[in-house]
Amino acid sequence: MFGLTRARQTAAILVATAAAAATALIASPTANAAPQPIVGGTTTTTTAYPFVMQITDASGHQFCGGTLVAANKVVTAAHCMAGESTSSIRVVGGRTYLNGTDGTVSKVSKIWINPDYTDATSGHDVSVLTLSTSMPYTAAKYVSSSDTGVYAANTTARILGWGTTSENGSSSNQLRTATVPLVADSSCKSSYGSDFVQSDMVCAGYTSGGVDTCQGDSGGPLLIGGVLAGITSWGEGCAEAGYPGVYTRLTTFSNLVTAQVNS
Ligand code: ARG
Repeated sequence: MFGLTRARQTAAILVATAAAAATALIASPTANAAPQPIVGGTTTTTTAYPFVMQITDASGHQFCGGTLVAANKVVTAAHCMAGESTSSIRVVGGRTYLNGTDGTVSKVSKIWINPDYTDATSGHDVSVLTLSTSMPYTAAKYVSSSDTGVYAANTTARILGWGTTSENGSSSNQLRTATVPLVADSSCKSSYGSDFVQSDMVCAGYTSGGVDTCQGDSGGPLLIGGVLAGITSWGEGCAEAGYPGVYTRLTTFSNLVTAQVNS
């Protein structure tokens, strides 16, 4: 997550002028509607979404999300794991609230980070954790490499996490969810230029902004038809008009994930 912060700052510098111009041109009433978490969404529970995992540091502080794809395997973002070691993190399942003590806490026996990963805006943002303790929760199905058609523009996707509820806000104590439309690759390219790597990323959000993942949601799921199809990766700010959230395009990495799931 810290590596991503640096990546985001780079992106922020690249687009700052355009963002400032856009802000000046757009009257702000809708943009300023009270932000809700994730940004714009509703509370939910790990009972409703049992495969949504908190990734915490060794003292239990959540910093990223993840998705259970097998009893002892969790898919998350590579940028969440940069600089981490197996002893520095835990995975928590079945815990709706950040301040809860329920659910299952597992240590991690292996962190696989996509070897091609450098930073989130260069793509390859996928990691698979092997848990020391199996989770007694239903795992999510994830896309296969041939499912590339799932990313059609305007398809509704679901995002989930405990991240901040506004761009510079604080985390949500309760798990939140929202739905966002997938954005055409050509449109995302217009927003982000060369930072948008079409083979590795997919964008989601409303043209007018208002609903998005934000800091702390990284690594968590983007579901299409209930199937894991993306990983929360990066974006310019959060929920800004013209700057959708960027998610790892999981079809590209599905075979790599499966190799880890079976390892
Ligand atoms: N980088 C964030 C994280 O580490 C996720 C950012 C997603 N941003 C967005 N605008 N969708 O938690």
